[in-house]
Amino acid sequence: MADPLIIAPSILAADFSKIGQEVTDVLEAGADWIHLDVMDGHFVPNISFGPVLIEKLRPLTDAVFDTHLMIAPCDPYLEAFAKAGSDLITVHAEAGPHTHRSLQIIRSLGKKAGIALNPGSPVSALEPLIDLVDLVLIMSVNPGFGGQKYIASTGQKVAQTKALIGDRPIHIEIDGGITPQTAPLVTSQGADVLVAGSAIYDGKGKASYANNIDALRAAV
Ligand code: DX5
Ligand code: ZN
Repeated sequence: MADPLIIAPSILAADFSKIGQEVTDVLEAGADWIHLDVMDGHFVPNISFGPVLIEKLRPLTDAVFDTHLMIAPCDPYLEAFAKAGSDLITVHAEAGPHTHRSLQIIRSLGKKAGIALNPGSPVSALEPLIDLVDLVLIMSVNPGFGGQKYIASTGQKVAQTKALIGDRPIHIEIDGGITPQTAPLVTSQGADVLVAGSAIYDGKGKASYANNIDALRAAV
């Protein structure tokens, strides 16, 4: 039986002047998780937000807070992101030499752990780490910005990841350039969590977000 599809809107594309409302609106519109893109201006060429924002959003909902750390180093900040209310913390395989330790720390903090792979990194990098994770995040754009074009080789990487996971209960999440056109290319290979920023947060409010989420679900 196929896993139920999880829709995780990235608030990077939301209106930050009313961010609390944007989060509750997208959940009422049918989203499952909230995807929180943390950028440091060092690991990626952009800066977004840190644990303070997550802490302020936490009381608004019980929905899963899916924190995607695009920061290096990440270990000094894992406890702060756990305490702020992340349910799942994903670190990049490329963010440092001790990813194995980072994943152990996340689990020791009582949180679910994810590992992310840039488009240029091979799926084989996951092999020594797979029993330490609850989620694999395959980047389908180079991380740093919303609104970029989906990279076509992603579908094949999802299939390779699915084969590596076997029957372990591990999610495969896709992040970047996901639209009703590109979503089926990855769900057909085994992805079950779709991150979407600009394809959901179009600035037109809750009814439009609901249409956009429905369109993603209908496309796969
Ligand atoms: C990119 C981020 C993504 C991004 C998705 O670095 O990790 O989550 O915001 O945005 P869209 O869906 O617009 O590509
Ligand atoms: Zn992300």
